[in-house]
Amino acid sequence: MIYLDNAATSFPKPDAVLAAVMHWHREVGVSASRGSSSRCAEAAAVVDRARARMGQQVGMSKDRVAFTSGATESINLFLRAFLQPGDLVLTTAFEHASLARPLRALQLTAGIRVRVLQPDPDLGLSVDTVQRALDESRPRLFAFSHASNVTGAQFDAEAFCAIAKGLRATTLLDASQTAGHIPIDVNADAVACSAHKALLAPPGLGILACSANLELQAQKQGGTGSSRALDEHPQQWPHAFEAGTPNTPAIFGLDAALGLLSTTTQRARLEAALEATREFEVRLRADSRFRVFAPAGPRMPVLSFTRKDLDPQDLAAILDARNVHVRAGHHCAPWIHRHLLTEAGGTIRLSPSPDVTADDIRQAWEALAS
Ligand SMILES: Cc1ncc(COP(=O)(O)O)c(C=O)c1O
Repeated sequence: MIYLDNAATSFPKPDAVLAAVMHWHREVGVSASRGSSSRCAEAAAVVDRARARMGQQVGMSKDRVAFTSGATESINLFLRAFLQPGDLVLTTAFEHASLARPLRALQLTAGIRVRVLQPDPDLGLSVDTVQRALDESRPRLFAFSHASNVTGAQFDAEAFCAIAKGLRATTLLDASQTAGHIPIDVNADAVACSAHKALLAPPGLGILACSANLELQAQKQGGTGSSRALDEHPQQWPHAFEAGTPNTPAIFGLDAALGLLSTTTQRARLEAALEATREFEVRLRADSRFRVFAPAGPRMPVLSFTRKDLDPQDLAAILDARNVHVRAGHHCAPWIHRHLLTEAGGTIRLSPSPDVTADDIRQAWEALAS
């Protein structure tokens, strides 16, 4: 199987990640902060190291890094903890449903106002565009993705955060498509991401990291392992945002992945995946049956397109029959398809891993062009 859906979840996971997960299942089996045995101590040490490693990734103290079930939970927890009735949120048309839908729900139920910034003509989002929108709307929150999970367009998050800060707007960065590929320590006030994409951990794990300047009330109450005699849920980070039994095997996997992902390794892996993406793009652009939706500027290894004579789902089925796994449809990004005029069937999306070979590309292309 030629797997070209790493923007959904990376596959296969490295052996070291699988070994760490299996080590937890076979030899550890317990959660951190749920007892004082040597097993709990081992779990606590690994969870603490994973937290510290994620803290380095986001440029925040480990005490401000909470483990969640995914970016979806992280974003929901943050929005519900931060927003107040009447607040204006500036966001972008590139957003995933994990941001778009809670914003819509809060618009309907909590009087939140939402302004959606449209892409530039080149399918990017320039610093000027963002500066103008922030200047005009003066939102309390600017919530945006570091990169589109549909077109792969990557945005200058550091510049966006600096502008927002100058205008006293808080920033929430959804780094789900960039974490593990490029640095995500861009001075956002809060960072949400999933751990199972380029961070190479198993599914069911995400991160919410938040600057110490933000006072946020926990949105879920329950067991935290600490303060067990209290009726009330603790408010201290990060445990306040980690109610319930954590996904410790996935955290073990993330810790192992972060041990592998040095800056040099991330760069090399990204360059290899981008090279494969560019190779597909060149072939697609040379064939007039295809319409490609790719940014002119910086990008991640994600490429969307349509084929004039075939519905995306039908083309994905043809590829599947030839052992090529891609994603067809809307990719859980409700707004961008209105802009791309692909609302009816969405797009086909390829997101190669760094390990895709020239032979894989040739085989996948033969299926695409058949
Ligand atoms: C940009 C973006 N944000 C958020 C998410 C949601 O992540 P999760 O499913 O891990 O909650 C995804 C997953 O596809 C994504 O691509």
